[in-house]
Amino acid sequence: MSTALLIGGSRREGSDRGRIDVLDPATGETITDVAVGTPADATAACDAAAAAQPGWAATPPRVRSEILRAAWQSLVEHATELAELITREHGKPLADAMAEIAYAAEFFRWNAEETVRIRGSIGTAPSGDKKIIVHHPPVGVVVMVTPWNFPAAMITRKLAPALGAGNAVVIKPPKETPLTALRIGELLEEVGLPPGLVNIVPTSNSGSWFDAAVDHPATRMVSFTGSTEVGRVLLRRCADRVLKTVMELGGNAPFIVFDDADVDAAVEGAMIAKMRHSAETCTAANRFYAQSGIAAEFTASLTSAMAGIKIGNGFDPDVTCGPMINAGAIETIDRLVKGALERGARCTLGGSPVEGPGCFYQPTVLADVDHSSPIAQEEIFGPVAPVIAFDDAEAVITQANASELGLAGYVYTRDLARGLAVCERLQVGMVGLNRGALSDPAAPFGGMKQSGLGREGASEGIYEFCETQYIATNW
Ligand code: SIN
Repeated sequence: MSTALLIGGSRREGSDRGRIDVLDPATGETITDVAVGTPADATAACDAAAAAQPGWAATPPRVRSEILRAAWQSLVEHATELAELITREHGKPLADAMAEIAYAAEFFRWNAEETVRIRGSIGTAPSGDKKIIVHHPPVGVVVMVTPWNFPAAMITRKLAPALGAGNAVVIKPPKETPLTALRIGELLEEVGLPPGLVNIVPTSNSGSWFDAAVDHPATRMVSFTGSTEVGRVLLRRCADRVLKTVMELGGNAPFIVFDDADVDAAVEGAMIAKMRHSAETCTAANRFYAQSGIAAEFTASLTSAMAGIKIGNGFDPDVTCGPMINAGAIETIDRLVKGALERGARCTLGGSPVEGPGCFYQPTVLADVDHSSPIAQEEIFGPVAPVIAFDDAEAVITQANASELGLAGYVYTRDLARGLAVCERLQVGMVGLNRGALSDPAAPFGGMKQSGLGREGASEGIYEFCETQYIATNW
């Protein structure tokens, strides 16, 4: 596969551009290297996108839709190859990587269907003096900045609706996992996507790359998935050109287990919500709240389930949790664990990094965690489950909402009415009620508060990549 930049349908790499080493986080070894995109390359990619976009917007929706469907088919056919790339550059177990490709591909199929159903409306003004026609043209050129935790799915969740709506895109994949992105670019070329509509420009100079892309006169929108901290910086920069934005930012998901819950089901859901994709998801359960009557039983049962996690190289079929992405991630996890222990938490499992090679952290459970500990406030992004006991629903709702982040939450109870009432009061964009898995291309993914702006997936997802135009007329 090519490791060059993809700009306007051509591969670009020059000896003076330098290279980005792509590392295997399970071993620390270099897998390969890819071309480095400069600010000039970001500008060239925006030029190419601007040139290709009008023709694509004028292409019948059915034709756009069929290319997206062919992309779905192609990802499914190349699932093993793509999953192996993900496991190599990200480290997640191969089974999780296969699940990611199925998820990633589905965004193409779902949005192939949405592409032919972008609706507008016609109404009569209350005064009767005109008709009000509303329709949804594409935004134009969209810049996408994607994260390393889902090297395929966080691209396709943005790319498929953007293309379906008639836009052209410039993607900055993460420097940790650029290979999957570049291979998806090749597959899109093979299924007949016209050149220039998808430009893929990895870089190690994110700030100047982003400045060039934002300042390009054709750029009209930025879609970002990543931390709240970086999202704030990008939002400020987008304000300079009043760009439309979709921001999928950090999470701090509460996982609430009431006394009447089925504890086995709650632990099964907890393991999914915590450990899916090596515990490196924004929707990961970050704080477990167990009601006093079952807190001990839940903690013991969660501890034994976490003890069953096997960490190691994602290519080993017995491994259920791969390495963390880099040494910095291990430092953050360990700082949060130590901080909780200093505030009186009890470690019932793990509690330390694992000696290298590779970046591994022991599956860890912390009981009796003080709610004011940094671990209950910051995103862990690692295999650590802090448990906090609570007495009543009001108290736990207050604690769950005491965060500036509001991406996901989870509630376990056998009382459906109580469960729904609690879900409704959680200040989060997505809630799993007696479920540990939320994500679905047909559901609107996104957060409240500082977890982001806009939604991806569902019907809402494609409209994020559209403008709204109103035409006043009479006939
Ligand atoms: C994320 O971690 O940002 C995405 C998680 C998901 O789509 O399930």
